[in-house]
Amino acid sequence: MIDAEQVRALPKAEVHVHLEGCFEPADVEALARWAGEPIRHLDVTGSDLSVFLEVLDWTCGLVRTPEQLARAAYRFAEREAHNGVAYADLIVNPTHWSTWRNRLDAFVDALDAGFREAEEDGLPPTGVCISLLRQQSPAEALELVEWLIARQHPRVVALSIDGNEAAAGRTGPGFADAFRRAAEAGLHRTVHAGESSGPEGVRDALEYLLAERIDHGVRAIEDSDLVRELADRRIPLNVCPGSNVLLGRYPDRSHHPLEDLRAAGVRVSINTDDPALMGHSLVSEYVETAAAYGWTLETLREIAHTSVEAAFCREELRHQLLDPR
Ligand code: ADE
Ligand code: ZN
Repeated sequence: MIDAEQVRALPKAEVHVHLEGCFEPADVEALARWAGEPIRHLDVTGSDLSVFLEVLDWTCGLVRTPEQLARAAYRFAEREAHNGVAYADLIVNPTHWSTWRNRLDAFVDALDAGFREAEEDGLPPTGVCISLLRQQSPAEALELVEWLIARQHPRVVALSIDGNEAAAGRTGPGFADAFRRAAEAGLHRTVHAGESSGPEGVRDALEYLLAERIDHGVRAIEDSDLVRELADRRIPLNVCPGSNVLLGRYPDRSHHPLEDLRAAGVRVSINTDDPALMGHSLVSEYVETAAAYGWTLETLREIAHTSVEAAFCREELRHQLLDPR
């Protein structure tokens, strides 16, 4: 049995986690009180993805001031430190944060202030992946990317896309121009696919969205040619087993395809997705996944190694984490 302390000590990154899902119930209650909004009880167990995404809209809609944003960023870094994370790529989707609509500069600056303060206090560094929602239009996507390119904010490392693919329909071709522009400008690309979409969503992510990594990607398992391609091209899957079970994609971890993907040579990491809302942590996800598959600490070390290889961090930090001495 692997214990929490062993997991905490592994040199690792977290590469698939949303700020929107990092508000603890006590934080949500305090924000709701401050905003004068009625307090809602947020139990998302068994929700489908659409309901879950609406909960994110409500929670993030409570964040009204730059100080509250900076505090959310700082609290995120504290959470990562507590789980022994040395670096995090954090997905932030501006469409969930209603107060900040059309105020992207102020939004990113406020988050950056919180992350900077966290680093000054010795907490781990965070790179931000600014995310599109699948329901947005191609024109909105291009507008966001042009802002990212013009602004070149040092905190922003990647363009991401998340949301509900099953509800949005096939959107890969429509977002191709936006992701091509981002790639040409040197931004990394990370793409949610193969969670609410099947293997075809993962194929579109690679072909149209120039994805360097796939967030989830687990339904690739339904297409053996695609599994081979992911393994051959060394495309990392940023997997979130607890999230997939909680949102009903698989009945439990033993039915989750993570171990089959790994056995087929696909590079996989373990991540939390929306840890506070889902009631889990990165450490608990490593521990429970290892228990479900009978993994040794050595296997977890490989998973942690993949997380660092997949991270959009500075090369110097990557080398330090891959070769700690
Ligand atoms: N945003 C936050 N969590 C998400 C998930 N699991 N899938 C798609 N978009 C998300
Ligand atoms: Zn996600």
